[in-house]
Amino acid sequence: MKITSKELRQKWISFYEKNGHVNVGAVSLIGDGSTGVMFNVAGMQPLMPYLLGKPHPLGKRLCNVQGCMRTVDIDSVGDASHFTFFEMMGNWSLGDYFKKEKTAWTFRLLTEEFGLDKDKLCSTVFEGNDSAPRDTETAELLQGLGIRPEHIFYLPKEDNWWELEGTVGTPCGPDNEWFYPLDSEKKNPVFPDDYVEIGNDVYMQYKKMAAGYEPLDHKNVDTGFGFDRMLLFLNGLNDGYKTDLFLPVIAKLEALSGKRYDDGGEDRKAVRIIADHTRTTVMLIGDEQGILPSNTGAGYILRRLMRRAIRYCKSLGVSSEAMTEVAKIFIEQVYDEAYPLLKEKEGYILEEIKKEADRFESTLAQGIREFEKCVNGLERKNAFMAQSNPAYVKETVIGGKQAFRLYDTYGFPLELTEELAAERGLSVDTAGFDAAFKEHQEKSRVLPTGQFKGGLESHSEMATKYHTATHLLNAALKQVLSPDCNQKGSNITDERMRFDFNFPRPMTAEEIAAVEALVNEKIKEDIPVVFREMSLEEARKENFVGVFDSKYGEKVKTYSIGEFSKEMCGGPHVERTGVLGKFKIAKEQSSSAGVRRIKAILE
Ligand code: ALA
Repeated sequence: MKITSKELRQKWISFYEKNGHVNVGAVSLIGDGSTGVMFNVAGMQPLMPYLLGKPHPLGKRLCNVQGCMRTVDIDSVGDASHFTFFEMMGNWSLGDYFKKEKTAWTFRLLTEEFGLDKDKLCSTVFEGNDSAPRDTETAELLQGLGIRPEHIFYLPKEDNWWELEGTVGTPCGPDNEWFYPLDSEKKNPVFPDDYVEIGNDVYMQYKKMAAGYEPLDHKNVDTGFGFDRMLLFLNGLNDGYKTDLFLPVIAKLEALSGKRYDDGGEDRKAVRIIADHTRTTVMLIGDEQGILPSNTGAGYILRRLMRRAIRYCKSLGVSSEAMTEVAKIFIEQVYDEAYPLLKEKEGYILEEIKKEADRFESTLAQGIREFEKCVNGLERKNAFMAQSNPAYVKETVIGGKQAFRLYDTYGFPLELTEELAAERGLSVDTAGFDAAFKEHQEKSRVLPTGQFKGGLESHSEMATKYHTATHLLNAALKQVLSPDCNQKGSNITDERMRFDFNFPRPMTAEEIAAVEALVNEKIKEDIPVVFREMSLEEARKENFVGVFDSKYGEKVKTYSIGEFSKEMCGGPHVERTGVLGKFKIAKEQSSSAGVRRIKAILE
C-alpha cells in the first residue's frame, strides 16, 4: 500500500486543520429526518442549518470524514467500484473563505500532499443558466494555479450543480469537479473517457425553493472527496475491494469458502456483495442512532441488505456465520480507530446479525423450493403450449400473486424474487405484486378480530387507522406551525400513536387546539384516501412529502387525502378519513434537541 486508509484519514484532516479548520468528527449515518432523506448521502447533510446561516459552535471552518450511504447503488454492488456505504472527506467554509482560497487548497492538497501530476488534472466548472452565472471566476483561478487551459471545461447544470435531490429549503450551488486519469501511467489520456471524478468543491450560495433558487446571505464552500475512491486511486488500484478496507475481509471469505477472489466470476461478485452489505449492516446497527432490520423505512433497507448478503453466502458455499466473521473484522481491524463505538456495540451487532440470519434461514429453504415450483410450472406450461402451437411465444414472467406469496409467506423481499428470476432469465410482474399487496391490505382491514398476521407484515385495523391519522397530523402541523415541520419518526400501537417532528419550542395550548381541530375537520369531511403509484419524479413534481430515497426511475407508492395531505408511503391506510373517529392530542413534549413528540389517540 502506498497509503493506508488510516494515513489518508489523517492526511485529509491535518491538511485542513493546518489551514484553520476544526475537525467536527463524523455524526450518525441515519438522516435526522429534517430533509426527508433517510440516510446521510453527503457530508454536508448534518451541517444543513449552518450552511443556511446558523452560527456553528466550532467556527466557520470545519472538516471531517463522514460516513454516507447511497442506496441508489444497491443493484450495482458486485462490480469493482460501487458501495452502499462509503465515507466522504469534507471541509466547509460557513460564510468565510470562498473560491480563491478553496481552489488553491484543493490544488495544493492534490498535487503536493497526494502527489498528483498537475498536467494531468482536469477540472469542470458551471457553464451558467437563468439561475446562476457562468463560473468564469473559478476557471480563471484554476488556470492561474497551473491547470492547463485545455483541461478546464464548462458544463451544464446536469454536471456542475450540486443539490440534495428531492428536497426544498436546502443549500446548493454550482460546483467545481476534479478529475484524474484512472490509469495514471496512460500516455495522453483523453477527457472524459479516461478520467474519473475524484471529488468536488461546491460553491453553496443558493437556497433551493419549490420554484427556483434564492441567493443566500452568505457564501459557503462544501467540499466532498470520496474516501474509498481516493484510497483506491492513490494506491494505483482499479478494484475498490483491494484497498486495506476490504483486504482482510476478502482473505477471510477466501479461507472460509476455499474460493479465490482473483478467479473472478460469480464467486468474486458474491464476495463483494457480502463484504459491502456486511459493512453497511455493521454501520447501520452500530450507529449512534442504530437501527434494526424491519419491514418499513430504513429498517427495510437494512433487511434487504442483510438478506441479500446471506443469500450470497449460500451461493459462495459458506454459511451465514461468514457474515458475522466478516462483521468482526470490520469492527475489530478496519474501523476500530475511526469508529470506536462499533467495538462497544460489538456483541449487540453480532447478535442482531445472527438473529436476522436465523429468521431468514428458517424460511429461505422453503421459499426457494416454492420459487422453483413457480419456475417449473412456467416451464411445463411453455413446453405444453409449444407442442400444440409452434408459433407460441414462451412466457417469461413470474406472476405477481406468486411473488406476493413468496413475500408474504416466506419473507422474500420482492427484490430477492426478482434477482432469483433474473438468474433464470425471467422477470417478475411487479405491478401484479403491488396489486396483490393492496388486496392483502384491504382484507386485513375487514377481519373481525382486527388482527391480521401474514409473513412479514402485521397490521391491525386500529393500527391502520392510526397510520392514516399520522398523515393528517403531519399535514396539520405543517399548516398550523410551519411548512418546515417534518416527520422525524412515529410509533403506532393499537392504543395510541406517537409522532415526532422538528420544531424548536413547545407548542402553545392554542396551537395544540388548532391542530386537533384541523385534523378532526378533515376526518369529518370523510375524504377518500387515494393510493397511487408513480415515478419518483412525478411524486416530486406533485409535492409529495416523504423519504426520497428510492432509485431514479423506480416507482413509489403515494397516498393523498384530498389536497390536504400528500405523502409517499407504503401504507396501509383506511379508505376514507370518516372512519377514524375523534382525534385527540394527549400529550406534547420534548423528544430530543429540536424535536417534539406528540402522543395522540383516536376515540
Ligand atoms: N456535497 C457534495 C457532494 O456530495 C460535496 O459531492
